[in-house]
Amino acid sequence: MSQWIVETEGMTRRFGTRISVDDVSLRVPEGKIYGFLGPNGAGKTTSIKMLLGLIRPDAGIIRLFGQPMPENSLDILRKVGSLVENPSYYGHLTGYKNLKILATLLGLPDSRIDEVLAIVRLTESAKEKVGGYSLGMKQRLGLASALLRKPQLLILDEPTNGLDPAGIQEIRQLMLTLTREQGLTILLSSHLLSEVDTIADEIGIINGGKLVFQGGLVTLQKQSQKVLHLAVDRPEEAARTLAEQGIGVECRGRTILVSLEGKTPLMQAQIFKALSGFNILEVKETAKSLEDIFLELTGKGASL
Ligand SMILES: Nc1ncnc2c1ncn2[C@@H]1O[C@H](COP(=O)(O)OP(=O)(O)OP(=O)(O)O)[C@@H](O)[C@H]1O
Ligand SMILES: [Mg+2]
Repeated sequence: MSQWIVETEGMTRRFGTRISVDDVSLRVPEGKIYGFLGPNGAGKTTSIKMLLGLIRPDAGIIRLFGQPMPENSLDILRKVGSLVENPSYYGHLTGYKNLKILATLLGLPDSRIDEVLAIVRLTESAKEKVGGYSLGMKQRLGLASALLRKPQLLILDEPTNGLDPAGIQEIRQLMLTLTREQGLTILLSSHLLSEVDTIADEIGIINGGKLVFQGGLVTLQKQSQKVLHLAVDRPEEAARTLAEQGIGVECRGRTILVSLEGKTPLMQAQIFKALSGFNILEVKETAKSLEDIFLELTGKGASL
């Protein structure tokens, strides 16, 4: 049994001649929140639909709980709750009745309806018609439906799309509770890093169908190290001098860039000491924010 709850290898999907998902290998660890990030049209929904067996991949392997999809979909999907695009409800029926229909289909007792209503904090509004629900309430009803069958894995496509900050915060809190207290594994997509950065243990960034980053936020954060920019009169010579002292540098025209990652103030002072024979024209320190890195990876930002 694989340690990954969701695992794909070379997952690929074309529509006509366009490749929407290109050789994507996802790894979602058990009991964690995985943020699946990418701008509009990046391939998030297409990937998610393949994970759920809603569309077929043209190439690649998909395993959920170590079992192949779609071959073992009956077995697998029993353990999966999902929310993809706008779920449809009977607007003229109450929230409770909508869930009752699903529960009956799934052969679940009414007590389970009360439980999920409590989890998503809809108990109070359960007797109201869904047609009158706010977007946030509809979204929570969608989550309640996804939770009905006590899934071990939740796959949510942009669950916070269109919600106000309070609504987003509420959903985030709910995700944390579900993983930390009930051990669920959650894969959720978003086009905003800021929406998942406080809750995701692991993130995957997709852009133009390609997975451009996968790993812990800490790993991504490492790329947000501070960098010292030094404009000097003889940059190549200065770079060599620093390199001789074991200080890694990068040349950008007249500016040399020195990473300050893991460097003590004493080591930083050493940089200037080593450069005492040079004319330092300008000193600047920058740090890439997580958001900068994300925008760079998705091709929307300026470089350093
Ligand atoms: N049924 C389809 N037929 C043709 N092209 C499609 C189809 N579904 C998706 N695509 C294309 O595949 C690409 C990826 O779309 P997808 O919906 O997966 O992106 P997304 O990351 O979910 O974007 P968004 O943030 O806007 O929801 C897009 O270029 C889209 O136009
Ligand atoms: Mg989408």
